[in-house]
Amino acid sequence: DMERKGIILAGGAGTRLSPITKVISKQLLPVFDKPMIYFPLSTLMLGGIRDILIITTPQDGPIFKELLGDGHDLGIDIKYKSQSSPRGIAEALIIAEDFLGNHPSALILGDNIFYGNNLGKELHSASMQKHGATAFLYQTKNPKEYGVAEFDQEFTVLRIEEKPDEPKSDYAVTGLYFYDNLAPQMAKKLLPSRRGELEITDLNNAYANEGKLFCKVLGRGHAWFDAGTFDNLSEASQFIKIIESQQRQKVACLEEIAFLRGYISSQQLIELATNNINPDMATYLTKVCREGKRS
Ligand code: TTP
Repeated sequence: DMERKGIILAGGAGTRLSPITKVISKQLLPVFDKPMIYFPLSTLMLGGIRDILIITTPQDGPIFKELLGDGHDLGIDIKYKSQSSPRGIAEALIIAEDFLGNHPSALILGDNIFYGNNLGKELHSASMQKHGATAFLYQTKNPKEYGVAEFDQEFTVLRIEEKPDEPKSDYAVTGLYFYDNLAPQMAKKLLPSRRGELEITDLNNAYANEGKLFCKVLGRGHAWFDAGTFDNLSEASQFIKIIESQQRQKVACLEEIAFLRGYISSQQLIELATNNINPDMATYLTKVCREGKRS
């Protein structure tokens, strides 16, 4: 059984968040109460993906390992690799080639935050599509900053345009992509763009040219943030804070997701609660365990 494996791309230069990114990875900055990387990791875990490769810059690797370890206490498996310089998002598939073997993949950007009703189920159902590529779209007011989908009458995606001056729709391509096992080979055939990067839009268009690019729109009930600027980072933090205080439920609590998804037992969850040095977290995890798998 060729289960889908996950890749979190968490390298990059982070120039727009300078100067802090001179000394720390963007993906370790806090989004309200947790490091940014918890969000993409939780998205993969919700989608049922337990075999995960984290790609970082060479200097940040050890810090991520210290933070997340090998994942076994969350019932998942985390491996690490580095990208020697930010040569583009599509390079992730090449770096991950050995890790993937012949498995299909889910690639998520380390600065992308997804939140919404039934997100896990939606990812699960998209994951059933074993051939081709699936991009997740989100309607946005500033499509010019993203890859933008061009549709035909039937709402089938024809191609993606990278940061167009005149966007043909307001559907942006988010930083979450499902690929079949051919993605590493296809990524190797890409040529660097004018800015010198292997563009994920070029990879997606290679699939589109073969009629194998599928798109899934994340609708009104979803929130999506690309936390790469100070404005977006601050807005994402506010959003998470509001959700967590209104609902008294946490977003992207990895231990909770591991438990609810059955990756760890209640016994293991209690252990994680007991060992948690943050008293609020210990209380929260104990509550999660007591209330069981209600949701
Ligand atoms: P970007 O936000 O496009 O780039 P960046 O993180 O370097 O930031 P800036 O534009 O401010 O310089 O990257 C999106 C995500 O992908 C982010 O999580 C970093 C990651 N990334 C890599 O790991 N390697 C790369 O080569 C690129 C381009 C991005």
